[in-house]
Amino acid sequence: MSENSKNSEEKKSNIEEIIIPSEKAMMQLGGKIAKQFPKGGIVLLKGDLGAGKTTLVRGLLRSLGFEGTVKSPTYTLVEPYQVNDRRIYHFDLYRLGDPEELEYMGGRDYWDSDALCLIEWPEKALAYLPEADLQLTILYKGEQRRVLIKS
Ligand SMILES: Nc1ncnc2c1ncn2[C@@H]1O[C@H](COP(=O)(O)OP(=O)(O)OP(=O)(O)O)[C@@H](O)[C@H]1O
Ligand SMILES: [Mg+2]
Repeated sequence: MSENSKNSEEKKSNIEEIIIPSEKAMMQLGGKIAKQFPKGGIVLLKGDLGAGKTTLVRGLLRSLGFEGTVKSPTYTLVEPYQVNDRRIYHFDLYRLGDPEELEYMGGRDYWDSDALCLIEWPEKALAYLPEADLQLTILYKGEQRRVLIKS
């Protein structure tokens, strides 16, 4: 196998698994993701209710210097943040009725920009979402969390 095709194979299915022992560690993981995507990107956050998706987004925003409140935009579906020169959109699609609603919301305008889009509950509208740059699946492991990171 050539070096090139080997690399693209790796890109397709690179899954890393890490243990996140605390809320603080989940916030730190958010900080790492902020560093990984200085020019924006699409990050899908999967995991049951209370798994830690919003906690990760909070950590990401804190790492960039945002000091305000960060809570899941459950009813508004999306919350925009401007932190210094960075645009961040935090989606929570849990209450999305019909996936087509995303089109009416102008979803495309969000991901066609240079923003970093963090999307909780992407399962609610997978067909309407762009290809992810990173997908995290957060699983309960007692008091801890197991995080599968697919890039
Ligand atoms: N290891 C851990 N990582 C992340 N959160 C943890 C951890 N241990 C305990 N917690 C707690 O779990 C909760 C996670 O809540 P959070 O709102 O981030 O979940 P969520 O995945 O966004 O849920 P929802 O789907 O309802 O939006 C917080 O109360 C947090 O303190
Ligand atoms: Mg949440």
